[in-house]
Amino acid sequence: MAENPSSNSEKSYFQNWISVIGAISSIFFFSIILFLFILDLFVEGINPYLGSVTYFFLPICLIAGLLLIPLGAWRERRRRHKKGQLHRFPLVDFNNPLHQKIAYVSIGVVTLFLLFTMVGTYKAYEFTESPEFCGLLCHQVMAPEYTAYHESPHARVACASCHVGHGFDWYLRSKASGTYQLYSILFNKYHRPIETPIKNMRPARETCERCHWPSQNYGMVEKDLHYFLPDEQNTQWKTRMMLFVGGQSAPYQYGEGIHWHMNVNHQVFFIAADKEQEKIPWVKSTGPNGKEEIYIDEDTQFTASQPPAGVEELMDCMDCHNRPSHQFRAPSRSVNEAMKLGFIAPALPYMKREAVKALTAGYATTEEALEGIRMRLEKFYSEKYPEIFKEKKDQLNQSIQTLQQIYSVNFFPQMKVSWKAYPEHIGHMISTGCFRCHDGKHKTTEGKAISNKCETCHAIVAQGPPEAMETSMTGLEFRHPDQTEEGWKEMSCTDCHDGALA
Ligand code: HEC
Ligand code: HEC
Ligand code: HEC
Ligand code: HEC
Ligand code: HEC
Ligand code: HEC
Repeated sequence: MAENPSSNSEKSYFQNWISVIGAISSIFFFSIILFLFILDLFVEGINPYLGSVTYFFLPICLIAGLLLIPLGAWRERRRRHKKGQLHRFPLVDFNNPLHQKIAYVSIGVVTLFLLFTMVGTYKAYEFTESPEFCGLLCHQVMAPEYTAYHESPHARVACASCHVGHGFDWYLRSKASGTYQLYSILFNKYHRPIETPIKNMRPARETCERCHWPSQNYGMVEKDLHYFLPDEQNTQWKTRMMLFVGGQSAPYQYGEGIHWHMNVNHQVFFIAADKEQEKIPWVKSTGPNGKEEIYIDEDTQFTASQPPAGVEELMDCMDCHNRPSHQFRAPSRSVNEAMKLGFIAPALPYMKREAVKALTAGYATTEEALEGIRMRLEKFYSEKYPEIFKEKKDQLNQSIQTLQQIYSVNFFPQMKVSWKAYPEHIGHMISTGCFRCHDGKHKTTEGKAISNKCETCHAIVAQGPPEAMETSMTGLEFRHPDQTEEGWKEMSCTDCHDGALA
C-alpha cells in the first residue's frame, strides 16, 4: 500500500519508536531516582550501595533515555528527507488555549527537571567524595585500606578529607588521577601493593591541618606497652613511657619535643635515596635566622655539595604519620595486644611464638590462611601437648578465632599488603621510622649528629615483669625484655626486630 505523504509530514518527528522508548524509559528512571532520593533523605544509613545506584548508575540510564528522544527524531527526519518529504516546523499560536497550556506545562517540567539536575549534580559530587565510592567501587583494590580505615581513629573521616585538599583545583587533580586509576583497574594495570608515598597528597598542611590545630601543644603522650616473650611460659614484660610530643613539661628537661619539626620557625628538608623514602642519607634544617645545617649519613659517599639525585622534600605530618588511617599491624604487636586482653590465651605454652609463626607462614589467599592457621595450631598442641589440647580446647579455639580475625584485617595476600609492604614511620623498633634520620650517623661537617639518645624523645617511667616493675618519674635506663640480649646497645633495633621475631 502506498504511504500518504501529506498525512505523514503533519506528524511530529518525535512520533517514532526510538523516541517513544526513550521517553518511557526516562520517565521510568526518573521516577525511581525520585523515589530513592526521597528514601535517602529520610532514612539514614540504609545501604552503602544505594548511593552508587541513585547518584551514579540510574542517572546514566536516565541520560541515555533522554538522548534516545532526539536521536529517534533525528533518524525520523533523515528517513523522511530521503523520501523527499518537506521539512516543516510546527505552528505555535499563543492565542490558542491548547498551545498556551502546553507551553506552561513544558516550562514547568523543564524547570522542575533543572532543579532536580542541580540537586542531583550536587549529590553526585558528594557521592564521588564518599568513603563508599572510594572503598566499595574498587572493591578488591581498596579492600586493605577500606578495612584498616574502619579500625582507625579516623573511621568517620571521609577518605577525601585526607586524600583531597580543599578547593576546586584539588577536586580536579583528584578526579584526574582518579580517572587514571579507573583505567588501571579496568585494564588490570595497577601495582600490588599500591605504591607509596602518594605524591599528590602533599602538602599535608592543606589536609591534616583542616582538623588538627597545627600549633596545639599535645604535651606528653603516655604509652603503656605490654609484651609477651616467645618462651614456654609466654613471660610477660611491661614498659611504660612518656613520649615528648609537645613542648616541655616538668620534671623532664627536653626541648620543643617531637612536633618541633612542624614549628613554623624552622623547616626540615630531606632527599631520599629510594622511592619508598625508607633511606634518607641527606637532611637539611633551616632556622629562623636563615641558618642552615646539613646532615649526611656517614656511611654514604654524599656530601653537602653532592647530594643524592632526587628532589628536596619538605618534611610534614605525613612523613611521620604515614599510617593515620591504614595501619597494617605487625604480627608481634597484634598478638601481644590480643594476649594482654586475654583473647589469645597466655596460659597455653609457647602461644606467643606459635601465634606469630602461624600468622607469618605465607599464604596465597585469605581462605588458605584462615584454614592454615587452624591446622598449624591444632597440629602443634595435639602433637606436643596432647593433654592441654584436650583440657583447654575452648581456650585454643578462641585463640585460633582471634588469630583468624587478626589475619583478615591486617593481611591481604591478593593485594600483597601487610605490615611489611607499608612500614609505619612512627617509632623505630619494627621499621626504621625516626631512625631514618635519628641514627646518630647523620652528621654535619663539624660532627654534630641528629640525636639518637633515648632521652631525646621519651622517658621510660616503669619497666619489668608486671609483678616486679621498677619505676622512676625522671626516667630509667632501658632494660631489654629479653635479658640475654645485650646487642641493643650497639645495634639498631631493626637489625634484629622485623615485626615477626618471636
Ligand atoms: C586521616 C587521613 C586519611 C583518611 C581518612 C584516609 N586516608 Fe588513605 N592514606 C592516608 C595517608 C597519610 C596515606 C599514606 C600516604 C603516603 O605514604 O604517601 C594513605 C594511603 C592510602 C592508599 C595507598 C596505599 C596505602 O595503604 O598506603 C590508599 C589506596 C588509600 N589511602 C585509600 C583510602 C581510602 C579508600 C580511604 C577511605 C575509606 C582513605 N584512604 C582514608 C590518609 C588517609
Ligand atoms: C576531618 C577531620 C580530620 C582530618 C582531615 C584529619 N584528622 Fe586526625 N583526627 C581527627 C579526629 C576527630 C581525631 C580524634 C579521634 C579519636 O580520638 O577517636 C583524630 C585523631 C588523630 C590522631 C591521634 C590518633 C590516636 O591514635 O588517637 C592522629 C595522630 C591524627 N589524627 C593524625 C592525622 C593526620 C596525620 C592527618 C592528615 C593526613 C589527619 N589526622 C587528618 C580528625 C581529622
Ligand atoms: C617528627 C615526626 C612527626 C611529625 C612531623 C608530626 N608528628 Fe604528630 N606525632 C608524632 C608522634 C611520635 C606522636 C605520638 C605518637 C603516638 O601517640 O603514638 C604524635 C602525635 C600526634 C597526635 C596525637 C596526640 C595525642 O594526644 O595522641 C596528633 C593529633 C598529631 N600528632 C598530629 C600531627 C599533625 C597534624 C602533624 C602535621 C602538622 C604532625 N602530627 C606532625 C610525630 C610527628
Ligand atoms: C627527615 C629526617 C628526620 C626524621 C625522619 C625525623 N627527624 Fe627528628 N629531627 C630531625 C632534625 C634535622 C632535627 C634537628 C636536630 C638538631 O637540631 O639537633 C630533629 C630534631 C628532633 C627532636 C629534637 C627537637 C628539639 O627540641 O630540638 C626530636 C624530639 C625529634 N627530632 C624526634 C623525632 C621523632 C620521634 C621522629 C620519628 C617519629 C623523628 N624525629 C623523625 C630530622 C628528622
Ligand atoms: C628520635 C626519637 C627517638 C629516639 C632517639 C629513641 N626513641 Fe624509642 N621511640 C620513639 C617513638 C616515636 C616511639 C614509638 C611510640 C609509639 O609506639 O607511638 C618509640 C618507641 C620505643 C619503644 C617501644 C617499642 C614498641 O613499639 O613496642 C622502646 C622500648 C623504645 N622506644 C626504646 C628506645 C631506646 C632504648 C632508645 C635509645 C637507644 C630509643 N628508644 C631512642 C622515639 C625515639
Ligand atoms: C641483637 C638482636 C636484638 C636487638 C639489636 C634488639 N633486640 Fe629486642 N629482642 C631480641 C630478641 C631475640 C627478643 C626476644 C624474642 C622475641 O621477642 O621475639 C627481643 C625482645 C624484645 C621485646 C619484647 C618482645 C616483643 O613482644 O616484641 C621488646 C619490646 C624489644 N625486644 C625491644 C627492643 C628495642 C626497643 C630495641 C632497640 C633499642 C631492641 N629490642 C633491639 C633481640 C634484639
